[in-house]
Amino acid sequence: MTQGFSALDFDEYHRKELPRLMAEGREALVADEVARRGSLAFRIDDGGSYTYQPRQGRLEIVPGDVAADTVVGLDRASWAGLVHDLESAPGLLYDGRARSLRGDLMRFVMWEPALRALYNGVPIHDPGAPLVDAEGESLDPAQTFRLDDDPEEMTAFMRAAGYILLKNVFSEAEVAALRKEAEAAGERAVEGDQKSWWGKTASGEVLLSRVIEAAVLPAMRSLPRDPRILRIGEIPGVDLELPHQGEDGVAVLWKSPDAVEGITNLPWHRDCGMGGHALTCPCCVCQIYLTPATPEMGPLEVLPGSHRGAYAFAEPHERVPGAVAVPAEAGDVSLHFGDVMHGTPPPTGEQGPYRVSLLLSFAGKGSYHHRGKRHYNDVLLGQEDGQIASLRAAAERG
Ligand SMILES: [Fe+2]
Repeated sequence: MTQGFSALDFDEYHRKELPRLMAEGREALVADEVARRGSLAFRIDDGGSYTYQPRQGRLEIVPGDVAADTVVGLDRASWAGLVHDLESAPGLLYDGRARSLRGDLMRFVMWEPALRALYNGVPIHDPGAPLVDAEGESLDPAQTFRLDDDPEEMTAFMRAAGYILLKNVFSEAEVAALRKEAEAAGERAVEGDQKSWWGKTASGEVLLSRVIEAAVLPAMRSLPRDPRILRIGEIPGVDLELPHQGEDGVAVLWKSPDAVEGITNLPWHRDCGMGGHALTCPCCVCQIYLTPATPEMGPLEVLPGSHRGAYAFAEPHERVPGAVAVPAEAGDVSLHFGDVMHGTPPPTGEQGPYRVSLLLSFAGKGSYHHRGKRHYNDVLLGQEDGQIASLRAAAERG
């Protein structure tokens, strides 16, 4: 099948490989998790189905799907991609490649952490666990840094927490120039141009939430070569680069409190949530704040340490124990691993300016799309009006 990944036999995998992995410890990883998820079956297009059946604190892999609460129809390559951590439940839903043959496809989404544990040995993240570094020393999730702080300390925090906030990286004058350019990028965006994301308010007003090819003006265009940004890209201590140096090198994000459609206020997610984790991670998103990003203005929220485990959320802005906001001021810069659970809840303030920030994506060297497409997130695009469906709406379509 996919370049660099072994072919899989659906039947043999479920009869031999998966039971062997489970006996070696992966069943224990998921026992508590699957007990609250109900049973899930995969039925493959050209024949065969297996049910993942929780029973009395154990997990059984049962041929057929007659007793499964939810039956997901997939083609063989999509299922194999799921095993190799190249496909994800949300990505398959948005792309129309996962079909509901019985039950609610959201159950497939909620099963994903258990699938990651079973297929890839990734532990289920415990959001109640304290944040500690590699030596077991406890860390304060609210700690912030400056660019000239001890690099080793910053790396240790980033690796443990999955994010870091750097204060006062850009001056007031620089922020003002970038804001002007961000406004110009917003004015150029057109609904349905496939280079911007749009949402709607309760009264039906159309909102621009993101421009993904914004580096059309000089200050914005110079950011991927700015020594401060390059220095921040070194904090994780992994081989990263900024592959996009042209107009698609910088995206602008606008927060809005009253968006009810689209994903203006991004639900909890991982940036590899549409697929490609095995190829694209570790990767990082760098965010330059052009306005304050307090809870009133719509900050980034993260689940510290969640990049080291598997986790899923049922509802877009569910309150989770252990989740923290990353409150920033204009000129601050945050960096987060793409696979730390994060989201941006709606601003709670009655008056703006709501958060405006710039996004630059650091990628691992040599990453590509396993199906030869442009980007995993492109499954979100495609509607003529540029509106992005919610995950639940995509599940109901399937
Ligand atoms: Fe994200």
